[in-house]
Amino acid sequence: MSYLQVVTKADELLKIRSEVGDDVDIGFVPTMGNLHQGHISLLEEALNNHKVIFFSIFVNPKQFAPNEDYSKYPRTLREDLEKIERACERDCKDKNTQVVVFAPEDGVGEVFPKGYATSISVGGRISEILCAKSRPNHFAGVTTVVYRLFAMIRPTVAYFGMKDYQQMLIVKKMTEDMLLDIIIKGMPIVRDNDGLALSSRNAYLTAEERKVALILPKTLNEIKKLILESESELEKFISDKLLQDKRWDYLQVLNANDLQPLNREKEIIALGAFRVGNTRLIDNLLIYR
Ligand code: PAF
Repeated sequence: MSYLQVVTKADELLKIRSEVGDDVDIGFVPTMGNLHQGHISLLEEALNNHKVIFFSIFVNPKQFAPNEDYSKYPRTLREDLEKIERACERDCKDKNTQVVVFAPEDGVGEVFPKGYATSISVGGRISEILCAKSRPNHFAGVTTVVYRLFAMIRPTVAYFGMKDYQQMLIVKKMTEDMLLDIIIKGMPIVRDNDGLALSSRNAYLTAEERKVALILPKTLNEIKKLILESESELEKFISDKLLQDKRWDYLQVLNANDLQPLNREKEIIALGAFRVGNTRLIDNLLIYR
């Protein structure tokens, strides 16, 4: 049976981390809560690979712009803990696995105490394209909190969902540049039966909007088909979509390794951001040609 602990204070977290010691392989799953099967799949993978797992639930204000949904971002700690508990019961029945959930409840001070003044940001094209265009300081907010959580937890492997593909690559780059000895493991997107990628933001959609949201995965699949069957039509297909439907924030096909423009590589990725009502959804599809 796994041993699940929930801590709300940074001091407790640091104490547990120092008791674990330095020669232990540690898995880490950072989240902002409102957990769905996408997050739980990260935990399941961590449960497969590590005896000690840290799981954070922290809605990071630094990655939201003033006009974004920080205050209304869904906070569902009780349900989240039940989901974590169920996954632990299911996936580590006979292992002596320790799972520590860090869920600072009393505001941001446990992660960014008074006087905290450092920002970590990755420069270059990868931080200027796609989501960065409409969310200019978002990735600096992400890398700042991830770096801080990494410093607190010192994991061996950290798990990130590939739905936020750009985020995952930026965190990888930050980890390399800062010489952090941490493996960043990207995990496949989990989808509902209708093809919509799971996201905490799906909760904002009305039933009607949810149907409209399917334009996003359907278009990515059409792009995949085009690439595999008649790639010469790709450019026109994408520019027509962007022209015809102003709800597209972006729709692009890039090199999957570094999000550079296409050149003859085999592993490529179609990425889209699409607005449905007030909700902006992102999704992507890896393609091997
Ligand atoms: O992907 C997320 O949920 C967040 O961006 C992360 C990585 C937990 C940082 O706040």
